[in-house]
Amino acid sequence: MSTRVEIFDTTLRDGEQSPGASMDDNQKIEMALQLEKLGVDIIEAGFPIASQQEFEGVQRVARTVKNPRVAGLARTVKADIERAAEAVSVANHPVVHTFLATSPIHMEYKLRMTPDQVVEEVDGAVRLAKSLVPRVEFSCEDSTRSEWDFLVRVVQKAVDAGADVINLPDTTGYTTPSEIQGMFEHVIGHVERANHVLFSCHNHNDLGLAVANALAAVRGGARQIECTVNGIGERAGNTALEEVVMALDTRKDVMPYETGINHKEIANSSMTLSNITGLVVPFNKPIVGRNAFAHESGIHQHGMIANQTTYEIMTPESVGRAKTELVLGKHSGKAGLSKRCEELGFDLSKDEVAELYGKFIELADRKKEIFDDDLRILLSSVRDEGFEAYSLEDISTSGKDPATAIVKLRRGDEKSSITDTATGDGPVDAACRAIERVTGINGKLEDFTIRAVTPGKDAHGEAYVTVKIENRPYTGVGASTDIIEAGALAYLNAINKHLALSHPTE
Ligand code: KIV
Ligand code: ZN
Repeated sequence: MSTRVEIFDTTLRDGEQSPGASMDDNQKIEMALQLEKLGVDIIEAGFPIASQQEFEGVQRVARTVKNPRVAGLARTVKADIERAAEAVSVANHPVVHTFLATSPIHMEYKLRMTPDQVVEEVDGAVRLAKSLVPRVEFSCEDSTRSEWDFLVRVVQKAVDAGADVINLPDTTGYTTPSEIQGMFEHVIGHVERANHVLFSCHNHNDLGLAVANALAAVRGGARQIECTVNGIGERAGNTALEEVVMALDTRKDVMPYETGINHKEIANSSMTLSNITGLVVPFNKPIVGRNAFAHESGIHQHGMIANQTTYEIMTPESVGRAKTELVLGKHSGKAGLSKRCEELGFDLSKDEVAELYGKFIELADRKKEIFDDDLRILLSSVRDEGFEAYSLEDISTSGKDPATAIVKLRRGDEKSSITDTATGDGPVDAACRAIERVTGINGKLEDFTIRAVTPGKDAHGEAYVTVKIENRPYTGVGASTDIIEAGALAYLNAINKHLALSHPTE
């Protein structure tokens, strides 16, 4: 049996069914082109009968991508199959994917069909599809809750009618790895001419087992995995493409299969999808989450510095991400801190590291994660190399319409301070405008969050801001018992970062 596993991407169909994931035609094209770069074997572009817009969207994808096959989904009814065939027929490699449920629950309550009727319906649907396009996939919806011998009967009918691909979906995310492996082995072992068709799996993630189940299905004989970028899809989603592909690649020793995926396009594919849909990737998501290659604890950082393989089973570069970012936090040790400084181009003496470490721990008490920009600011205060950061000496605000703020700032360690005043939509806005007048830096406040860091009435408020300056976003943080002052400090912190970055130490 071949060791090549085909990757069938259904981000634009099953993925698009996730709440909040709908894409317009242009976005579908952008994503389809990215999937082509990623090297997927087949793109399921949509469900053409659903609407005229959906039909045109599938057709545009079919026209645009050149290498992958393009599939259109269809129920077993004539109109669906004809519409799907029409939409994909402009593709270089068109596919009609038709499906019918085979589980007792679905047959009785949803289809209201007897098992015999289901078998006959499959025969007619596959024959019709096969008369319209060269390649047909048939799915037994809810396979994993179907009787295995009935599956054999239905699949035999589909194979005899000319199906090229047989998909056995875990529609409800119900199965387990050993069970799905057994199901594939049973069906493949009992269907005649099973070696003439490609067996496929399609797993939902309701119990968090989609990737494990897909890998087990491959062990049971499946050679196509249906999946989506970032694992989006109905309910808890589908098998995550990036996870299943990297599992196969990283554990070749126990799973000797290969895919045609260009791993270096994984990060781009994840970001493209997230940007298009606005569905944020969870920080801890394997492979593509922000923290997937971030090491915070001192022990881990120490190990990583000694040898990357101590805590990394694959490199971020292999999936197209920037080099490992050591996110520093209060558990980080001096080794991690000085190594990061070195990587940022700062060659520190022992004394400087000691001083920096003290400031770093102080900051880490207020701010959980310390990124490179934060470090640069701390470094600039340790190494007096002409960097002119501003510090807030005083602030007062008054009035409502408009609010007025007076700020007093000191530049570096200059003797005199500078005072200026401004008005704004509210006291924080007025304070930010006054800071801009003193520093000469204009920013756009994109995000402003405030939270209490200590309990009680005199709680310390911590403000987090994102400020866009010259098209680059800078984060800032400031803490004070006065939330307006916390906001002003955070804004000034972001401006200081900008100044530090635009005046790097030589
Ligand atoms: O989950 C499912 O069963 C499906 C089929 C249409 C393949 O998405
Ligand atoms: Zn599905």
